[in-house]
Amino acid sequence: MCGIFGYAGEKRDAREAVLEGLQRLEYRGYDSWGVGVVSDDSISVDKHVGLVGKDAGTLPKSHIGIGHTRWATHGKVTNENAHPHYASDKSFALAHNGIVENVAALKSSLQKDGYAFISETDTEVIVRLIERRRRTAKSLAEAIRLSFKELEGRNTIIVLARDGEIIAARNGSPLVLGIGAKSEIYLSSDVFSCAPHVKSILVLDNGEMVTVCDGEISLVNILTGKSIKPVYEKNLLKDVSVSKGSYDHYMLKEINEAPFVIRQVVKESDAKYRALARAIKKARRVYTIGSGTAGAAAAQMAFYLRLYGGIEAKELIGAEAYEYKSLIGKGDILIAPSQSGETADVLEVLELAHTRKATIASFVNMPGSMMTRLSDHKFMANAGPEICVMSTKIFVSQIAWGYLVAKAVEGKLAEGKRNLKKVATEVEKLLADKKFIREVKDHAERLAHKEHLYLLGKGQNLQIVREGMVKIIEGSYVHAHAIPAGDLKHYAITLMAPDVSVVTTISNDEVCASVLNAVHEVRARGASVFGIAPQMNENFDDFLAVPDTGETSAILNVIPLQLLAYYMAVALDHNVDKPRNIAKSVTVK
Ligand code: G6P
Repeated sequence: MCGIFGYAGEKRDAREAVLEGLQRLEYRGYDSWGVGVVSDDSISVDKHVGLVGKDAGTLPKSHIGIGHTRWATHGKVTNENAHPHYASDKSFALAHNGIVENVAALKSSLQKDGYAFISETDTEVIVRLIERRRRTAKSLAEAIRLSFKELEGRNTIIVLARDGEIIAARNGSPLVLGIGAKSEIYLSSDVFSCAPHVKSILVLDNGEMVTVCDGEISLVNILTGKSIKPVYEKNLLKDVSVSKGSYDHYMLKEINEAPFVIRQVVKESDAKYRALARAIKKARRVYTIGSGTAGAAAAQMAFYLRLYGGIEAKELIGAEAYEYKSLIGKGDILIAPSQSGETADVLEVLELAHTRKATIASFVNMPGSMMTRLSDHKFMANAGPEICVMSTKIFVSQIAWGYLVAKAVEGKLAEGKRNLKKVATEVEKLLADKKFIREVKDHAERLAHKEHLYLLGKGQNLQIVREGMVKIIEGSYVHAHAIPAGDLKHYAITLMAPDVSVVTTISNDEVCASVLNAVHEVRARGASVFGIAPQMNENFDDFLAVPDTGETSAILNVIPLQLLAYYMAVALDHNVDKPRNIAKSVTVK
């Protein structure tokens, strides 16, 4: 959802530093990008539509710069709408992550005062507001602070001033400052993008503004204008690698990291799991919450909590929790798996729950996130950066964590850990099995050219096929539809006919027979069924064998579906790591 980056330091050429940062932030949006640098007291900006380029060729060499990678909200994908946006006199340039919710009112007030607009963006409104404030404010920083106070919504901005100052303000969308060697200063939407270069980090809180000038950093409270003492943390991600290695795509690399991420979940201390289990057991109501893939993970976690923990857990989708907002209160617990820890829809519910004194637990991959800060029970996925916009390894780690929390509630944490270790080994074997991979690829090449694809699942496999559907839609743009196997006969059976393809993942569990019934019903209408299961069934037209890992078999079944979606996207020659229109981290509503 837009990435912003800034660099000030003698060590590197700002053009290269900012471009590298933008490449790492590209998962946040890749409609267009731009870089602005300062040299000889003037600002030069280079903007382009499309993926972040290899060089910001037209810009002069510089040591101070900012950049932006865009996921269009207000205004089409054009050069004009790309950031950074210049002030009319080019005294500053500004990049923005967020949505100005009161844009209409602000724009009409500015227009009344004679301000003209070049782009269709809400960002330009911020630029003009600052220009208007600049006429009376004692400094540019003060004009920015006062203008920022006028904005509604979740917004973060970075401003590059002609005199070499960089000023950034946060309210909602994330912002991190990093300090590198020789007093280099980085500003970014996430830690991973600057992690290899920085020793310490400062995660800005909502309502904070930072000014970087001649190597000096000053932090203020946006509301009061008063100084705040920055609290730096050691950067623990310095050695994190952000590379595809020998894989063709990040997606494939990340699917292959599933065993690693499961083991990371197992590594977390028993005491932490037990503390969360106690909080869940004594809670009045238990909600799990997430958006997109994390929403499927939250639902799988609620399933595990009901099945193994005997807890009446309810799953919520971040943006669809409207009617629950008045119900959540003291004594309740909300549990949020989230890659970024910043998803606006979810954060909004958690913030409200927090003010109502509900307990919050989160499982986050990105360090320094708002969700972690808000949480009473803070768990980190420690899964390493997930670069592909489609979430794969994080989903696996989220449901593995959900399973383990449920086992802790059941009082069988040790058994849960043993089961996860076993499934990690089985997944590892599967991923190393060339025949298995070739078979998935063959099926993917066949299914990639279908117009519609249906997925059937039940019990522990219901959310798994739902997530398979999400991956197929995201990567191949093929219309996929996940159907609860038991509900098939109530509506979707009308769609079953010759030439229709159905995929199902089945485990050897108590609902297995009922899924096979649905398979029968599908076959009886002439549709063909591709079964992913521990053993062949006469009703499968195509079959992929997977090991039976008992309680954790749903976690293993995710892998063939993710691989299927991957190879379908590859077969269609799509941009696998950056599917059209979506962004990885949705920090606006
Ligand atoms: C976006 C991404 C999804 C992700 C969801 C929640 O929609 O495309 O892959 O699952 O946001 O993100 P989170 O960071 O909260 O896990």
